[in-house]
Amino acid sequence: MTHSATKFISPLSFQALSGNPVATELLDADEENAMGHITLARWADILIIAPATANSLAKFSYGLADDLLSTLVLAADCPLFIAPAMNQAMWGKDITQQNILRLKKQNIHIIGPESGSQACGETGEGRMSEAVDICNALTCSDLPLAGINVLISAGPTQEPIDPVRYISNRSSGKMGYALAEAALNLGAKVTLISGPVAINCPPTLSPIYIKTAQQMHQAVISRASDNDIYIGAAAVADYSPITTSQQKIKKYEKDTLIKLQKTRDILADVANSPHRPRFVVGFAAETEQLEHYAKEKLTRKNLDMIAANWVGKEQGGFESDENALHVYWKNGSQALPMTTKKHLANQLIDLIIEIMNEKNTTKNTR
Ligand code: PMT
Repeated sequence: MTHSATKFISPLSFQALSGNPVATELLDADEENAMGHITLARWADILIIAPATANSLAKFSYGLADDLLSTLVLAADCPLFIAPAMNQAMWGKDITQQNILRLKKQNIHIIGPESGSQACGETGEGRMSEAVDICNALTCSDLPLAGINVLISAGPTQEPIDPVRYISNRSSGKMGYALAEAALNLGAKVTLISGPVAINCPPTLSPIYIKTAQQMHQAVISRASDNDIYIGAAAVADYSPITTSQQKIKKYEKDTLIKLQKTRDILADVANSPHRPRFVVGFAAETEQLEHYAKEKLTRKNLDMIAANWVGKEQGGFESDENALHVYWKNGSQALPMTTKKHLANQLIDLIIEIMNEKNTTKNTR
């Protein structure tokens, strides 16, 4: 316990409730003899700090070691997990996010935080993850996607017409980000390539941001071969202006024409590349003949699976927090009814794991 922690709960209560000794002092003569910080650091299989305050995060990220906890963190050579908990404004500060990035670069695992009501009476991101989620993260190596690399595209692209105008679409990125979180929670190493979105992104994701379809193509293709699964949830522009005016286009003319060229199909290029990921999943956004167009894309683009959704309707599709999917693969299909995008993402990732494992088993028994 840090000194601040002992102001909330006494070490004696902690000791009585847990049935374990509680260490508080770096230089306590008794503790040094029995379990000094080096002994403690060597004894642990895993070190988890929950809750971790903004102050502790800052100290760990810079390697300060001026009390028992920070010294323990610096001395530990076992896997380190940190579950931050703080006021939403403190969590949202650039400096806190920079500290988180520094910790991640040291291979320290960050669990949460979650969004919701806070002890201070405010609402927002910064609540410590539930104990069960922290335990799940610790047992990550037992998870179905442990050791699997997943590449996901999300959000829209913006195709510039001039310095102030662009062509884009209604994608919010919610579906793609939910998939990234779902895969991450199942133990995957996730790389998220994101168009411009207004999502409050959990620090565990750290997306690679792009703007245009061409930039997304480059970002995805250059990483595809390092990944086992690719999921194309982004709404990539199908056309972009052939030329981008360097100056703002004047509105002298009543009508004008913008010549468009087709963008490169990222999904098809990934699926047909010589070092393609083991499992390639596309999306199909349709306003008519959902099944027909989805199956056509599944075959034409050489995909393992396609998740089709209705768009342009009142519920689901672009922007909404809910969605429904009709999923097709070579020998089967499954409907995933209307629910939150977060729940739907969990269901789709489960289905991907199931069908990918079936595909591997069939391949291996041939
Ligand atoms: O972002 P949200 O607001 O949460 O909305 C979610 C969504 C509706 C955007 C998502 O569920 C979805 O349907 N994404 C795919 C949108 C789309 O562009 O569909 P499409 O049918 O036009 O394209 C088919 C597939 O080809 C998609 O996987 C797309 O990523 C891919 N594609 C398309 C064009 C292109 N140049 N490169 C591609 O990779």
